Amino acid sequence: MENIESIKAHYGFTSGDVKNLLSLKPVMERRRDEFVVEFYNYVKNFEEADKVLKDEETIKRHQDALKVWFINMFSGDYGGEYFSGLEKVGMAHVKISLHAHYVNAAFHFVKSYAQGVLRKEVRDTEEIAFLERSVEKILDINLDVFTSSYIEEEKKFFLSPKVESWLIQMADRFSHGLNLILVLGLVLLGVMVIGLFGYDFMHIYESKDFEKGLLSTLGSLLMLWVVIELMDTEVRHLRGGKLTVKIFINVALVAIIRKILIASLKHGEVEAQLSLVAALGVLGVVYWLVARVEK
Ligand code: HEM
Repeated sequence: MENIESIKAHYGFTSGDVKNLLSLKPVMERRRDEFVVEFYNYVKNFEEADKVLKDEETIKRHQDALKVWFINMFSGDYGGEYFSGLEKVGMAHVKISLHAHYVNAAFHFVKSYAQGVLRKEVRDTEEIAFLERSVEKILDINLDVFTSSYIEEEKKFFLSPKVESWLIQMADRFSHGLNLILVLGLVLLGVMVIGLFGYDFMHIYESKDFEKGLLSTLGSLLMLWVVIELMDTEVRHLRGGKLTVKIFINVALVAIIRKILIASLKHGEVEAQLSLVAALGVLGVVYWLVARVEK
């Protein structure tokens, strides 16, 4: 953070502003509870509000802290303690990963709320404008300190910003390269499975056991289906889509179904078949749960 005195100087914050703000303290104290109610009415529609103001306890803590923050703006004491308090509040928002945009938007509300109070409480229009300037200055100073917390957080690095950004870029390219190799591997696998399917298909009639030939062909068809699904997911992922966990359960499901098909041909392996059916049931439930969550 910049030196406190230079921050005040940059905003033209003078002893006159201190006097103005202090004179508003009784008015603002009366409106402290109303301020919090209106603040919450405003921020409750923010997309990230539910994510960070996640339970009643947090909301209560935030509302109490807001009241203290609001009244402190009119305390007339804007020394080191006031500024380090603001830094702490700024950091609190950085820590909960609240996007700076929402803090800015909330300040917009506070500004118009304070303007509304002045219009209701003060008769003289010149006096309103005079007081309004001081309120605007202290709010801008507050927002300045809050914003610095976000900038400080962005400045954190281990080696140097250049080296880190180069490393991140390289890692990104490398991971993209690996994804392309994965697609190539899947294409090769697809070709091989097509070969296997062709082989199994040709041998359906040649085989003495027609049922066995048919089930083997069905097994290789299932494998082909899995390869298509995997390739489709990977291509979507490369185009910026989300990787779904469902697909991995799909693969496991197909592998087990194939095993069941093969095991059903062998007589006397009831236990093995039952355990495969149980595994299929468990995977089915997991698939259903994951599909619900991902939806
Ligand atoms: C004018 C803008 C805002 C002010 C003045 C303000 C004020 C404060 C204060 C004083 C604290 C307590 C910091 C500490 O622990 O020392 C705080 C924390 C917090 N703020 Fe804000 N806030 C603002 C905007 C927002 C917005 C827009 C959200 C969410 C949509 C939000 C969510 C939170 C949360 C979740 C905490 C942590 C509460 C806890 O777990 O104790 N704040 N804020």
